[in-house]
Amino acid sequence: MNGVQIMATGRALPSRVMTNEDWSNLVETNDEWITTRTGIKSRYFCDGETNEELAYRACEQAIVRSGVERSEIGIVIVATFTPDVPMPSVACLLQKKLGLDTDVAAFDLNAACSGFVYGLKTAAALLANKEKPYALVVGSEQISTRLDWTDRSNCILFGDGAGAVVIRYAPEKQFVSILGSESNLEALGCDCRKTEYPAIYMDGQKVFKAAIQAMSETAVAICKKAQITLDEIDYVVCHQANERIVQAVKKRLCISEEQVYLNISHYGNTSAASIPIALDELMEAGMLTRGKKVLLLAFGAGFTWGGVLLEM
Ligand code: UT7
Repeated sequence: MNGVQIMATGRALPSRVMTNEDWSNLVETNDEWITTRTGIKSRYFCDGETNEELAYRACEQAIVRSGVERSEIGIVIVATFTPDVPMPSVACLLQKKLGLDTDVAAFDLNAACSGFVYGLKTAAALLANKEKPYALVVGSEQISTRLDWTDRSNCILFGDGAGAVVIRYAPEKQFVSILGSESNLEALGCDCRKTEYPAIYMDGQKVFKAAIQAMSETAVAICKKAQITLDEIDYVVCHQANERIVQAVKKRLCISEEQVYLNISHYGNTSAASIPIALDELMEAGMLTRGKKVLLLAFGAGFTWGGVLLEM
């Protein structure tokens, strides 16, 4: 069994708040369109902060809250598609900055918006074979550096930020996961068609439909694998790409309003960071008490998707 337990969480946001109003001064859009189509009101953008800095702050908070000895952390996985530089990895830079030993396995992982879920499964598998009992799993993004600032259908969707969890090897805890991928370069990716740097392009409607289908089917498959019903799950935390996507998943799964967590209004889509940021908010609010069952669902570029059922 590869069970893990979340010991503590942390999050970090850059200082600049970018509202819908701010975007309407740059491209032809307005608060009403963005709010009704996406649920987003504002997002954070880096203003001098780096991906590494956001990841570091989120990790530091999670480690301090966990009370775990740094020498007991053996794995650092940073899920990101927006590292500051192609190498060294953000994770490797964190090793020294966080004061971790050198026998730590530190690497970045790119599964776009599904990165945190991919990271959790990877960490769980590695923990089962590691001598040290704890791992750090992080989602950290500075998507503002990958936007075409003139493309109104995409630029208004995204935000920067980081979330981190300290997990412990816990074979006694229920842990069921499913990951998937299917190559699709047409609907979502980064290229230099209109910008000097690789910027995000997306066929919004195709991605919208694919995200609802993949996350709903993954939820059903995970419940089947875990031999539980959806109403036994306390919280379903979907990747926050669009409020309407989360609402559609909720409707398809016939789950209640109370089971679904939404925070996209003030973060936008922070890709791999969205689920750990949501977990940190749930943790801070005291909602993730011992024994609670949480289902994480993600979908992103690749396409990639995945789900993890965790027991707190
Ligand atoms: O993280 C994983 C990847 N991301 C996602 O999962 C996002 C998935 N897709 C979506 O969230 C939605 O498809 C969008 C929010 C991107 C778009 O919503 P939509 O309801 O599918 O709108 P649309 O693309 O069909 O556009 C409707 C209209 C168009 O005008 P016409 O052709 O009907 O005259 C667009 O040109 O809205 C126009 N439009 C805008 N208007 C004001 C597109 N962007 C904007 C904008 N402001 N920012």
